[in-house]
Amino acid sequence: MADFDRKTLLRAAMKAREFSYSPYSQFKVGAALLSADGTIYTGCNIENSAYSPSLCAERCAVAKAVSEGAREFIAIAVVGPEDSETTPCGVCRQVLYEFCDESLIILCGGTDTHYTEMTLGDLLPKGFRL
Ligand code: THU
Repeated sequence: MADFDRKTLLRAAMKAREFSYSPYSQFKVGAALLSADGTIYTGCNIENSAYSPSLCAERCAVAKAVSEGAREFIAIAVVGPEDSETTPCGVCRQVLYEFCDESLIILCGGTDTHYTEMTLGDLLPKGFRL
């Protein structure tokens, strides 16, 4: 169990959720990705009227991090609606697996007190690698 402040990461995801652009689903999601050097990269879901170009909060955070040179990650917090336990979709699991191994910690919830801790290995056993 990696040693980092769960509440700080969850609160960063909750702040990012405020920027969610989700006029079609009304389902606001925020993510906060903790890199090995301690930097937190946030993201929110960004929907599109053509639907398929929509971006999940997790992939938004990964794109921000990787495009700024980060490659190693310890954990990601994902928060959807307050009463939910929003887990990353299959595409986001595979995108996370590109940069992380099974030990990546994933905090899934709706608030900084209502969440479940799991790992990428729990959510994506035998992920694809070339
Ligand atoms: N969504 C995320 O951003 N992350 C998830 O883990 C699940 C789903 C978004 C995609 C879409 O904008 C909305 O939530 C409803 O599916």
